Amino acid sequence: MKRILFSLLCVCLVAFACTKSQTPQEKLTANDAKINEIIAQMTLEEKVEMLHSKTNMSSAGVERLGIADMNYADGPFGIREEGQPNGFMSAGWTLDSATYFPTGSALAATWSEDMAYKYGTGMGKEARLRGKDVILGPAVNIQRLPVGGRTYEYLSEDPMLSAALALFYTKGVQDEGTAVCIKHFAVNNQETNRGSVDVKIDERTLREIYLKPFERAIIEGGAMSVMPAYNKVNGDYCSENEHLLNEILRGEWGFKGMTVSDWGGTHSTMGAMLHGLNVQMTGSNYLGQPVIDSIATGALTEDQVDEKVRQILRVRFAIEPVPADVANTQMTSQPESQQIAREVAEKAIVLLKNENVLPIKSEVKKIAVIGQNAVLKTQSGGMGAGVKALYEVTPLEGITRRAEKAGIKVMYTPGYKNYPGRRWGPAPAEPNPLEAAAIDESADPELLQKAVELAQAADLVLFFGGTNKSIETEGSDRKDIKLPCGQEELLQAIAVANPNIVSVLISGGPTDLQILEPLSPAIVQGWWNGSEGGTALAEVLFGDIAPSGKLPFTFPRQLEDSPAYALGNFPGNNTGADLFTLMFRPDVIKMSPEERQKLIESLPKPISEYTERFYVGYRWFDTKVITPMYAFGHGLSYVNFNYTLDKAAVSGDKVKIAFQLTNEGDMDADEVVQLYVHRIDSQVEWPEKELKAFQRVSLKAGETRRIILEIPFDDLRYWNEETNAWDLEHGQLQLQLGAASDDIRCTAEVTI
Ligand code: BGC
Repeated sequence: MKRILFSLLCVCLVAFACTKSQTPQEKLTANDAKINEIIAQMTLEEKVEMLHSKTNMSSAGVERLGIADMNYADGPFGIREEGQPNGFMSAGWTLDSATYFPTGSALAATWSEDMAYKYGTGMGKEARLRGKDVILGPAVNIQRLPVGGRTYEYLSEDPMLSAALALFYTKGVQDEGTAVCIKHFAVNNQETNRGSVDVKIDERTLREIYLKPFERAIIEGGAMSVMPAYNKVNGDYCSENEHLLNEILRGEWGFKGMTVSDWGGTHSTMGAMLHGLNVQMTGSNYLGQPVIDSIATGALTEDQVDEKVRQILRVRFAIEPVPADVANTQMTSQPESQQIAREVAEKAIVLLKNENVLPIKSEVKKIAVIGQNAVLKTQSGGMGAGVKALYEVTPLEGITRRAEKAGIKVMYTPGYKNYPGRRWGPAPAEPNPLEAAAIDESADPELLQKAVELAQAADLVLFFGGTNKSIETEGSDRKDIKLPCGQEELLQAIAVANPNIVSVLISGGPTDLQILEPLSPAIVQGWWNGSEGGTALAEVLFGDIAPSGKLPFTFPRQLEDSPAYALGNFPGNNTGADLFTLMFRPDVIKMSPEERQKLIESLPKPISEYTERFYVGYRWFDTKVITPMYAFGHGLSYVNFNYTLDKAAVSGDKVKIAFQLTNEGDMDADEVVQLYVHRIDSQVEWPEKELKAFQRVSLKAGETRRIILEIPFDDLRYWNEETNAWDLEHGQLQLQLGAASDDIRCTAEVTI
C-alpha cells in the first residue's frame, strides 16, 4: 500500500512539475500525438502543398482530413482590406472596413504594456470577425535610422521598450484565439535594398539590441509564428539563416511554431528546407514541386518535410478555424476596438514643447488651422500596413467638433500641397529601384499667401506639418528628415503674421525641427494616430486630458548626428536597387529558377555595416554627448510631477527602487516613470545609460503614490562574445530615475 501511495505521489509530483515548467512554446506541442497521426495519413503532395502559398493571403490545409487552410491578414495596425486571391488588389467587399489603430511608433509612445495588450485584443477580435487565423504583426524591428521607411510601423529605438510592447501585443492577439506572426526576423532596419542587403553585425549587438523584442514575445508570449525578413544577416538570407532560425529561434528559444517568409522573401529550396523556413509566401517555385523532386533525388527526406508540416499543424491546432458561415457576417470594425484605438491615441500624443500656450486658453476665439496634414487621412498607403478604416477622424474634424462646443471659430487653409508620392502601378520594365522620396519642393506662393492671411485673422495658429505615407513608406527610406512640401518656408511666413503658433507634427518618424522649433511656442507630436486620432488630439489641445506620451525614439537635431550617419554606415554603398521589386517584374516572374538565380547573382551586393554596434539611438547620443532636439523618453504634461526617492537596494536577484510620485497639478494626469542604469567603474564596455524599467502611472490631481520599480538581474546581463553566453558583470550601478532620458530626477547607487 505504502509503495502504491509513494508511486502515486511520484506521478503527481512529476505531473505537477511538467505542467508547472511547461513554457508558452511547449504548449504548442499539446496536440503532437494527434498531429503525428494526421501526418501519417497524408500523401507527400498534400504535405508539400502546406509549405507554400495557396492564395496571396493563405496557405493550404488538407480538406480531405478536415484541416482548414491558414488565413493570414496584414496588420499590424488594423485588419487589412480583403484582397483578390492572387494579389493585393481590393476584393471589393463591404464588410471588411476595420478599426485603424495608431501606428507602431504611436503605440510605443504610450509606453504602456496595458495599452499594447488591449490593442492586441482589438486586433485579434477583428481578425476573427474576418475569418483570419494569423495576423502579420506585430512589426518590432528596432528603429535604427531616423529616415527608415518603416519607422512608423516599428515600435522604438530601445530594445527594452520594444520588447515589452511586442510581448503584450502578442499576448493580446493570441488570447483572442488568433496567432501573431511577429516580423521581420531580424535586423530589418532599412528599406533601401531590403531584399538583398547583407547586414554585417556583431553577436553582442544582435543579441542585446535587435533580437530582444522577438526573444520576449517568443519565449514569454508564446508567439506562434515568425516572419523571417527580406534581408541577409551575416551572409545568409533571413529565410534560410541557420544561426537565426535554427540555432537561436528553435534551439535557444525553444520555438515550436512556424516561420512564414516575407512576401517574395524565399530564395532557395535547400536553403529554406534545411535552415528553418516552413512556408514560402508567396509562390511555390522553391517549396512546391522542387521539394518533391529533391526527395526523389535523395537530397531531402520525407521526414524533413514531416517536421515542417508538424510545426505548421501545431499552429493550425492551436487556432480554431472560424467557420465559413460565421466569418465576414458583420463589419470588421467594432465599437469596442474603436474605443481601444481612442485610448491608445490619447496616451500616445507627445507634448514636445510648451511655453504656456497649451492647453488652448479661454481668450482664444478664432483658430487658424493651417496645413494639409490637418485633413489628411493616414489609414491607407505605406503598402502592407494600410487599413481600409470604417472611419477616421482627421485632426481638423476633431478640433472643429471640440471648438464648436467652446464657441470657438475654426478656419482652415491647406498651406501646402502634400507630396503625392509614387504611384504603385505595374512593376517597371527596368530594375527601377524604389527611390527615396524627393520632397524638396518650395512653398506654393498662392497657398502661402492664403495661409498668411488666415494667420493674421486668428488668435492662435495650429500649424500642421510632418510627412505622409508616400514619404514614409515600406519599400523606401527617406533621403533626409527635413520637413517636406515647403513647410519651413510657409511656417516662416506665418510666424511673421502671427507668432502664436502651436505646431502639430503628423508623422510616424522624427523630422528635422531646426527651423520649426524656434518659431513654435508649442510643439506636439501627433503621429498617425488611428481612427480616433483627431478626437484624441482635440482633447489634448483643449486640455480635456493632459498629454502623456513620451518619445520612443530620439529626435536628432540633424540627421548627421545619428549613429549610422555619423559613422558613414548609411547609406554607405546602398544604391537603392531593391531585389524585392525585381522579383515582381513580369519578365522575372516568367523566368526559370536557374535564370532568376543568374540574374540575382549578377546584381550588386549591398552591405550594411553596423559598426556603431549597440550605440543605437540615445545610447549613442548620451555616450558621445551629442544634444538631440528632443531626447528619448521626452514628453511634457500640463502638470508637474515630483519625484522623491525612498530607497534603492538589491533584493535577491533583483534591483529595486522605491519612490514617491506626486501629481502637483490641478488635473488628473499620467506620468511615465523611467529607470536607466549607468555602470560605474566597469570592465565591460557599456553605453552611458540604458533603460531598464518603466511604468505608466495615473495620478489624480494632487495625488501621491509610492512606486516600486524592479530590474531582474537577467535584464542587466550582456552578451559575452568570448563565452558566447549571457553574463552578469558584478559591480556598482548608478540608478537614474526620471521623466525622460535627459530629465533624471533622482539617482542612487547599488552594488550587484
Ligand atoms: C511586408 C510585410 C507584409 C507582407 C504582406 C511585405 O511586403 O514586408 O510586412 O506583411 O508584405 O503584405
